[in-house]
Amino acid sequence: MRIVLFGATGRTGHLLLQRALRLGHNVSAYVRDPARLEVKHDRLHVVRGDVLDPLSVHWAVAGADAVLSALGFSARRPPPILSDGVRHILDGMETHRVRRIVVLSAAGALHERAGFFVGTVGLGLARLFLPGVYAEHRKMLETLQRRNLDWTAVRPVLLTDGPPTGRYRVVTEGIPRWGFRISRADVADFMIQQLTSDAFVRKMPAIAN
Ligand SMILES: NC(=O)c1ccc[n+]([C@@H]2O[C@H](COP(=O)([O-])OP(=O)(O)OC[C@H]3O[C@@H](n4cnc5c(N)ncnc54)[C@H](OP(=O)(O)O)[C@@H]3O)[C@@H](O)[C@H]2O)c1
Repeated sequence: MRIVLFGATGRTGHLLLQRALRLGHNVSAYVRDPARLEVKHDRLHVVRGDVLDPLSVHWAVAGADAVLSALGFSARRPPPILSDGVRHILDGMETHRVRRIVVLSAAGALHERAGFFVGTVGLGLARLFLPGVYAEHRKMLETLQRRNLDWTAVRPVLLTDGPPTGRYRVVTEGIPRWGFRISRADVADFMIQQLTSDAFVRKMPAIAN
């Protein structure tokens, strides 16, 4: 499979990159700074660009079988990387007839209910202190819902840099009961699996240990 990966230099993105290569996929890593990419591989093709530039995004997705996005930001008031950037990706996919995309989003982006006290408080605090981040995720999810593409938006709870456990719970409404964290490695495993599954097409699975 030829995959275009956005966010390959990020903490979840580089785990996606390693897994995709290990599974034998050809990967085009779309990155702002190729020097930040530590991996070298004969099935890895590096594309330099910024998702806020629609033209370079369009070129990058041409000919892909699927797209993975682990885009993110550290700013409290983030630039429109998910709202505009992911819209550029979707526009490019429609132009070049690429149907499958798996994106990394966040639990709490849709004002969903946790269903348990600690989760409700945690999501409430996160939304209170990072309103711009959640607004970006919400816009991305709303845009996905309007597109006639085979999308999956993965909504993890708090991300950690722990090892993969292979033991996590997935729900499509709310978040898994008592689930408040998950490793980026488990999230990357779940996202990669979605490339060869239609179980969560046009769904927004929340994932937690
Ligand atoms: N932290 C949490 O607990 C948590 C919980 C749930 C969901 N999330 C969400 O998970 C997502 C990924 O998290 P992470 O920690 O893996 O992210 P990260 O390490 O911050 O990586 C973000 C990636 O996005 C890339 N990027 C940013 N702006 C870009 C642009 N304009 N053009 C192209 N690439 C760009 C970065 O590239 P550079 O290397 O060039 O900067 C980097 O590769 C985020 O959307 C976050 O909101 C986080």
